[in-house]
Amino acid sequence: MSLVKKEFDFTDKHFNHVRDIATRHSGIVLSDGKRDMVYSRLVRRLRKTGIDNFDDYCILLENPGHEEFTHFVNAITTNLTSFFRENHHFEMLADVVLPDIMKRNQATKKIKVWSAGCSTGMETYSIAMVLKEVIPENSGWDVKILATDLDTNVIATASNGIYNYDSVTGVSDKRMTRWFMRGSGQHSDELKVSKKLREMVTFKQLNLLHPFPFKGPIDIIFCRNVVIYFDKETQKVLFEKFANIHAFNGYLFIGHSETLYNVTDRYKLLRNTVYNKIS
Ligand SMILES: C[S@@+](CC[C@H](N)C(=O)[O-])C[C@H]1O[C@@H](n2cnc3c(N)ncnc32)[C@H](O)[C@@H]1O
Repeated sequence: MSLVKKEFDFTDKHFNHVRDIATRHSGIVLSDGKRDMVYSRLVRRLRKTGIDNFDDYCILLENPGHEEFTHFVNAITTNLTSFFRENHHFEMLADVVLPDIMKRNQATKKIKVWSAGCSTGMETYSIAMVLKEVIPENSGWDVKILATDLDTNVIATASNGIYNYDSVTGVSDKRMTRWFMRGSGQHSDELKVSKKLREMVTFKQLNLLHPFPFKGPIDIIFCRNVVIYFDKETQKVLFEKFANIHAFNGYLFIGHSETLYNVTDRYKLLRNTVYNKIS
C-alpha cells in the first residue's frame, strides 16, 4: 500500500481487474509488487484519453476491439533491451550455431531465424550483424529474420531502425562504422541501421499466445527475457508451439534468468540458456 495520495483512486478491484485482463491477453503476470508500476503507466493513459477515473477505464477495457486496448497492452509490456545483450549468445551464434547450420543446410542454402519478443529491434539487429559478418556476401545464402512483438510501439521503432547514441553503447566502434549511418542536421544525435541489415528482417506484431501464422522449420529462435513474465503453464504451451515449428536440432536462446527445466523435454540444454530442439 502506497502512502502517497494518488491523482486517481486505484483500488484493489481496479488493480485486480487490469491485471486479470493483462494476463488473459498477453500472458504477462503482474504481481502485487507491480501495483505502483501499473498505476503510473496507466495514469498516463487516463490523462491522454481524458478519462478521469479507473472505473470508467476498466469498463472501456472490457472491449478488446476498442483502440485504447492496444495502448493498454503497450503500457503493460516491459521492453527493456539492448544491443548485444548477453553477448555470449552472439559469440555462440557466430562460432558454433551458424557454422553448424550452414553445414546442415548446405543443400537448401536457407536459414530462418525468429527473434520472438524483439522489443525495439536491438536484439534483432544484433543477430543480423552477426549473420552478415559470418555468412560471406554473394555466397548464395538466403537468410531471413522474422522479428515479432506484442507491443505495436516497439515494432514501429524496430522497423524504423533509428536509435539515439545512448542506446548503442553495446556496439563496438567497428560495427558502428560498418552497420550504422549517422544522422545529420536536426538528426545528428541519431543513428540509422544500414539498409543491408534492415532488408534481412521482417518485423510484425504478434501475440505469442495466439496461433503462429506461419510454418517452420525455423533454424534459430531467440526468445529472451519474455517468458520471465509468464506463468509456468503459459510457458509450457509456448515452448510446445516453438518446438512444433523448430527444425530438428534447431537452436533456442532464452534469457539469463529463464529455464526450460520442468517446462518442456523437447529441448536439450547445450550451454547456459542455449538449447537444441531434440523431439
Ligand atoms: C524485456 S523485453 C525483451 C526484449 C529482447 N528479447 C531482449 O532480451 O533484449 C520483452 C518483450 O516481450 C514482449 N512480450 C510480452 N508478452 C508478449 C506476448 N504475449 N507476445 C509477444 N511479445 C510479448 C514485450 O512487449 C517486450 O517487448
